[in-house]
Amino acid sequence: MKSIVLMGFMGAGKTTLGKALAKDTKILFQDTDELIEKEQGKKISEIFAEEGEQAFREMETRLLESLQGQQKSRILSIGGGMPLKQENRELLRKLGVVVYLKASKETILERVSKNQNRPLLAGEDLEEKVSRLMEEREKIYLETAHQVMDTDGKQITQILWELKEILK
Ligand code: S3P
Repeated sequence: MKSIVLMGFMGAGKTTLGKALAKDTKILFQDTDELIEKEQGKKISEIFAEEGEQAFREMETRLLESLQGQQKSRILSIGGGMPLKQENRELLRKLGVVVYLKASKETILERVSKNQNRPLLAGEDLEEKVSRLMEEREKIYLETAHQVMDTDGKQITQILWELKEILK
């Protein structure tokens, strides 16, 4: 059985879809933010506040390296900034089929505005932050992805069906 890596911007639905796919397929689900929080005994927001983004990015790389050593099928939901580092892009592509879950700015804004625990989006002018980061990252996501999946306007059942086709 293959592994699948769900990549995309904050609020793209990686964790929700990953959990639903894991339930359907009985494949192990892992979420890199959750694994880092567990390992560090702190919330992502606390890591950013106390140690900074750079330290968090290093934790992400170390986690990907440790996952490479464990040869198993998994559905891996990754933090939206994971592919920013070149070495992470390579590690991700070795871990499984990397699927870029693409959503429009409007969809992302609606989802992230309901949730205040993302340090990169905290504070004023959410729309400006989301626009800038989405623009900066689009090229990186496209470069990292094996497959791009548009999610706007699709039912969750349709997206799950498409993801299951990839796992075959
Ligand atoms: C980040 C995304 C977050 C989390 C951290 C940084 C990013 O994960 O890793 O706040 O740089 O896009 P989600 O994409 O699951 O929100």
